[in-house]
Amino acid sequence: MTDLDKLNSLVAAVVKKSKYRKICVDFIRRIGEQEIAKRASLKEAIKSTCSKLHQVSGAFLENHPDFSQWLTQLETLPQDIYSIEIKQYCREKMQAHTSTYERLPTIDEFFHRCLRSLAPIHSLLDLGCGLNPLALPWMPLAKDPMYQGIDIFADMTGFDQQFLQHTHLRGRVSCADFLGELPKQRFQIALVLKIIPLIDQIEKERTRQWLESIPADYLLVSFPIFSLSGKGKGMLENYSMRFTQMLESGNWKMERIEFSTELAFLLHH
Ligand SMILES: C[S@@+](CC[C@H](N)C(=O)[O-])C[C@H]1O[C@@H](n2cnc3c(N)ncnc32)[C@H](O)[C@@H]1O
Repeated sequence: MTDLDKLNSLVAAVVKKSKYRKICVDFIRRIGEQEIAKRASLKEAIKSTCSKLHQVSGAFLENHPDFSQWLTQLETLPQDIYSIEIKQYCREKMQAHTSTYERLPTIDEFFHRCLRSLAPIHSLLDLGCGLNPLALPWMPLAKDPMYQGIDIFADMTGFDQQFLQHTHLRGRVSCADFLGELPKQRFQIALVLKIIPLIDQIEKERTRQWLESIPADYLLVSFPIFSLSGKGKGMLENYSMRFTQMLESGNWKMERIEFSTELAFLLHH
């Protein structure tokens, strides 16, 4: 069996599992290729690909939502993104993704404190966006902002896209691997929220170069203060030290902003 045959068999086996069926195939191939190179058999490579996919994506959507039901509910709501009904809906649905769930207690201040120096925001690129389009009502946006999100779950990004359409927000949400090609167009700010620890698990040596290649004037990078198991494990200082060391020679200007569940850095050259 050639490596390509092995990779095709691995992808076919992984997408048969309901938990990974909605994940973008390019991303499964990226992980699968690495695991085939490391493991003694195809069976082991399939197993370790699934466990990596769980760590970097599936674990955040543990009870995978029924997005078609969410859309039916959305259709009954007003189109104004700042209406009480839409904001209530967004708060409720953001609980389904661990990352937005953890940010809910600080959401009223998180985007305001992180983005106030750049407000009003007119264009955003959101890498590994999860359910972040639902957080747009809490961001200090310009009148007709442009939002572009990328994540690897087809059904979640499809839902995010419908949310933008329902609320008449310009932009799109794509199902793609952000470690592949990034958009050509330039943005005012890129959100890189709680993403770096995941890239470190896949291609640690590329993290810095990847950050440098993001087409945005500013980057808002953040780290979780607690792990998914709820333990702090000195994460705050570890992330902070590694991150500042990583960017030391890059001539970045950096503002550090700390919250009870998240450590953020606003960066620009
Ligand atoms: C820790 S969560 C952060 C979500 C969001 N940025 C936030 O802070 O609320 C990581 C997200 O990145 C997505 N993701 C992981 N690797 C990715 C990749 N290579 N390309 C696109 N999305 C990715 C996962 O599916 C997940 O939704």
